Amino acid sequence: MSITEQHKKLERNVTLLGVGALVAVAIGGIVEIAPLFWIDNTIEQVEGMRPYTPLEQAGRDIYVREGCYACHSQMIRPFRDEVERYGHYSLAAESMYDRPFQWGSKRTGPDLARVGNRYSDEWHVQHLKNPQSVVPDSIMPTYGFLADTALEVPDPAGNLQALRRVGTPYSSRDLEMAAADLRAQANPDLDAADLRERYPKAQIRDFDGDPKRLTEMDALVAYLQVLGTLVDVNDAAAQEQLAGEKGR
Ligand code: HEC
Repeated sequence: MSITEQHKKLERNVTLLGVGALVAVAIGGIVEIAPLFWIDNTIEQVEGMRPYTPLEQAGRDIYVREGCYACHSQMIRPFRDEVERYGHYSLAAESMYDRPFQWGSKRTGPDLARVGNRYSDEWHVQHLKNPQSVVPDSIMPTYGFLADTALEVPDPAGNLQALRRVGTPYSSRDLEMAAADLRAQANPDLDAADLRERYPKAQIRDFDGDPKRLTEMDALVAYLQVLGTLVDVNDAAAQEQLAGEKGR
């Protein structure tokens, strides 16, 4: 039987065609689904990475709410021009607690993956209130209202718990202290020793220039100031590479 005849036979027999289609689809399905069972292997823990504090997380929610991602990416690609402009390329582990991730593909403004500690809080506040006052040619919109809006997080513990359910390793103590942590990080008068211990490298100070109030500006600046600062990247990149070689 020639191949054309074989094909004709297959085409005209509903059962045979059905079985054939099933086999074809099953192969496609397995190829897509099987890797998901090993997805955990693709995430390499690196030293220094920790979940966001409640204040940073609240700032992150504002970042998402305001659509900052529409103009800013958060992923430095491993190309020389990017590395020279923005710093060490982003490591996979650095966005392991980002839900949803903010990698982005649109850069009307610069990449923000390593903007933490690059500018002072005052610069960020001034820039968010009036970008053109610090970068005259800027086309970034103004966000001054954030400084006048009290930060309202109805259920800080609930937020962390939701993240814990999907895998972010918040401890029970983190949940218990969430509401207190939220205030303590931006108010130097409150005791933040416990917060500092549970969230290494947390920056604890008044961020928006008004120590009396806890505003959305406090949260957003706290978030911007932590971006890209948790991991010692040169050390971690070496760790990732080693782990990758071992896995191979
Ligand atoms: C319409 C596009 C647009 C939106 C939306 C936008 N930005 Fe920008 N952003 C820019 C541009 C363009 C620049 C570069 C000029 C400047 O520094 O103002 C910039 C610069 C920045 C910088 C300085 C980065 C650096 O390395 O110099 C920060 C920080 C920043 N934006 C944060 C934000 C945040 C936070 C939001 C959301 C609240 C936001 N941007 C929304 C366009 C945008």
